[in-house]
Amino acid sequence: MNRVVPISSILYLLASCAFARKWNNTGIGKIAIEEAWTVPDLLFQSATIPPPINQTIDEFLANLTDIHNQRLAHMDATGIDFMVLSCATPCIQSMTDPVMAEQMAFQINNQLAQDIANNTLRFGAFAALSMHNASQAALELERTVKELGFLGALLNDFQETPDNSTLLYYDQPEYDVFWQMVTDLDVPVYMHPRPNTAEVIQLEFQHAIWLEGSSQSFATTLSTHVLGLCANGIFDRFPKVKVIVGHLGERIPSDLFRIDEQLKRSLVQGLPMKETITSYWHTNLFETTSGNFATDLLQFHIGQIGLDRIMFSVDYPYVTMEEGATWVDGLPLDEQDSLQIKRGLAIELLGLDK
Ligand SMILES: *[C@@H]1O[C@H](CO)[C@@H](O)[C@H](O)[C@H]1NC(C)=O
Ligand SMILES: *[C@@H]1O[C@H](CO)[C@@H](O)[C@H](O)[C@H]1NC(C)=O
Ligand SMILES: *[C@@H]1O[C@H](CO)[C@@H](O)[C@H](O)[C@H]1NC(C)=O
Ligand SMILES: *[C@@H]1O[C@H](CO)[C@@H](O)[C@H](O)[C@H]1NC(C)=O
Ligand SMILES: *[C@@H]1O[C@H](CO)[C@@H](O)[C@H](O)[C@H]1NC(C)=O
Ligand SMILES: *[C@@H]1O[C@H](CO)[C@@H](O)[C@H](O)[C@H]1NC(C)=O
Repeated sequence: MNRVVPISSILYLLASCAFARKWNNTGIGKIAIEEAWTVPDLLFQSATIPPPINQTIDEFLANLTDIHNQRLAHMDATGIDFMVLSCATPCIQSMTDPVMAEQMAFQINNQLAQDIANNTLRFGAFAALSMHNASQAALELERTVKELGFLGALLNDFQETPDNSTLLYYDQPEYDVFWQMVTDLDVPVYMHPRPNTAEVIQLEFQHAIWLEGSSQSFATTLSTHVLGLCANGIFDRFPKVKVIVGHLGERIPSDLFRIDEQLKRSLVQGLPMKETITSYWHTNLFETTSGNFATDLLQFHIGQIGLDRIMFSVDYPYVTMEEGATWVDGLPLDEQDSLQIKRGLAIELLGLDK
């Protein structure tokens, strides 16, 4: 069968060959990819979270909006060659109005592209997307990748909707059009945590409110969403999709025996998933070390999912670059394995050398 190749995709191919991405490739420096940034209009979203120890909330918020000053200086000081920026949680995912969410994602993506345009040697970007409408999300992802040179998307967990009893999860069939675009563009999707909604907090966390957030609810809420992608067969239908999970995989690779064993019982009840959760960590899922610098746990995960599924990240500015860099530089790994974690996998996943 003859297939007609649209002229636009030929031009795109020519353009991408002619202008292969240039980045600050020192051959040894680190790459960090779960690194937050935001615009002044959205700073209110970050103003109520506890800042890092010994930082005032104002210092923390200043670090969030900065790119070229203290952020870059700390990258130089800690040997980070390249950083991928994304919109600080919850960004678009807490915007209940679809029209507003779509407009805001468009603006944020353009702003980020413009802000890093004079230093793409050091900075790349993940797209922010409104997930109210999967077709629209797919088109905006395509626009950011093809026209703005973005390296993928970062979604802050579920999308809130105007109806506060409905939350949107991307493991439903209506998101197939989105995962098809992710496949076609061959870019990774980073699944990042977000705060719960008022309703969920009231029901599940009011009894011990300290656990809403990065100590507990971020990991439990997001890991359920990621396991939903597995359980509902997204990776069976879209075997080339690459999903990145931060904070050492939001605890999933720490508990694979139990999850896989128990899911066997659901198979007889119609669980559509074709493989095991463990197997998706060898085909579709990747983790980063963002904000989880636990050496023993890393070693355990290397045994569970393999060193080639794990890459460095800091989680700046929630965590300092010094803390992340000192840890990863001091890991008891040989040089090849160390470089693989610090940069090798990121170069491959982001297609930096393409
Ligand atoms: C915070 O500052 C105090 C006083 O300078 C210091 O002792 C402590 O180690 C700091 N904590 C962290 C986590 O940096
Ligand atoms: C930004 O983060 C750095 C650590 O990465 C910290 O030393 C500094 O106080 C923070 N705030 C400002 C405004 O630079
Ligand atoms: C490349 O990154 C290193 C940190 O790994 C930094 O010291 C160096 O100045 C950077 N070079 C350029 C041209 O930005
Ligand atoms: C890029 O622009 C920003 C803002 O004007 C400036 O602070 C920074 O020094 C510029 N970086 C480069 C590499 O020109
Ligand atoms: C979803 O987005 C697509 C593409 O922009 C559009 O054609 C469609 O009308 C939208 N659907 C709804 C329900 O808004
Ligand atoms: C959720 O929506 C219902 C109906 O609009 C409203 O009565 C309720 O106050 C909302 N809950 C919160 C926590 O906003």
